Amino acid sequence: MKALILSGGKGTRLRPLTYSGAKQLVPVANQPILWYGIQGIVAAGITEIGIIISPETGEEVQSLTGNGDRFKANITYILQEEPAGLAHAVKIAQPFLKDSPFVMYLGDNLIQRPLNPFLQKFKAENLDGLILLRPVSNPSAFGVAQVDRRGKVLKLVEKPKDPPSNLALVGIYFFSPKIHEAIAQIQPSPRGELEITDAIQRLIECETAVESCTLEGWWLDTGKKDDLLEANRIILDTQLTPSILAQVDAQSQVIGRVQIGRGTKVVNCSIRGPVAIGENCYLENCFIGPYSSIADGATLIDVELEHSVILQGAKITGIHQRLVDSVIGRRAQLTVAPRRPKAFRFMIGDDSQIELV
Ligand code: G1P
Repeated sequence: MKALILSGGKGTRLRPLTYSGAKQLVPVANQPILWYGIQGIVAAGITEIGIIISPETGEEVQSLTGNGDRFKANITYILQEEPAGLAHAVKIAQPFLKDSPFVMYLGDNLIQRPLNPFLQKFKAENLDGLILLRPVSNPSAFGVAQVDRRGKVLKLVEKPKDPPSNLALVGIYFFSPKIHEAIAQIQPSPRGELEITDAIQRLIECETAVESCTLEGWWLDTGKKDDLLEANRIILDTQLTPSILAQVDAQSQVIGRVQIGRGTKVVNCSIRGPVAIGENCYLENCFIGPYSSIADGATLIDVELEHSVILQGAKITGIHQRLVDSVIGRRAQLTVAPRRPKAFRFMIGDDSQIELV
């Protein structure tokens, strides 16, 4: 069994963060989203992993994630020159996948439950395809399945205007090598991509064994800001191991589950977990409230923060109103004058969103 993780795409819904970096590398509780997927795959006993990368962000994904040693896995990077669809990604990964069955995992999906029970079902029932489904309120934004009472998949459609059910396809699929024949038979969709949904539909038409399972527990498709904050909240709630490796002065107060990395200095701050703070940060006169993640190298002085994600190297000073539900990009600077500001002076990137509420 092998794994194929997709870490290409343009990440349009997370702009401006994704102008300069891959959406799969945006941190959730200070770890890139992509790494949760890798860890879940390795936990299911799969160590031969191919990662599809794009020309724009591939180098960054590769240099940060490495050859797999840190996950006790073997990672092969596969370059997809054009964002030509999920099925196209499988096609170009054929030299890596050979005739092995595999799990395909979209690198911006996060799930609570382990993969193992699905993998066991896929193997025990000798399936050619196993898909995970989840009822959603907006099925038109996803691939949608129509299933019979036993869970047998009758029909799949990608982003239908008139959805046949409310069951969305989760971005995690198990395939036998028969998927390659199905992909060879499909044509690009109206959005110009070779859709994996169409390839699975082809498998169904050829009467191969395709089954579905309903995914329980939380599922987050971290492609948007609110989903990212929600993923951050859930991971901090459920997976944060408290550890303080930083210099925290006697005037500071740290309550609840808090993780602070090496080289970070905390001066006269109040920190209320769950909170994750990376390495080499500087925090002075701050209140850091629950569900905040602050990445490596950030500086926060005179700031009140809650339920927010601060990326690497950001610098925030003098924010006395509470900063909430915010995502601040890498190396971004946010400064408010010590007195009530008389004017605002901005240099804001394309697609940024500022709300003074
Ligand atoms: C892709 C798939 C879609 C699936 C979704 C899950 O959509 O094409 O069938 O429901 O992932 O995250 P995309 O995110 O590429 O629009």
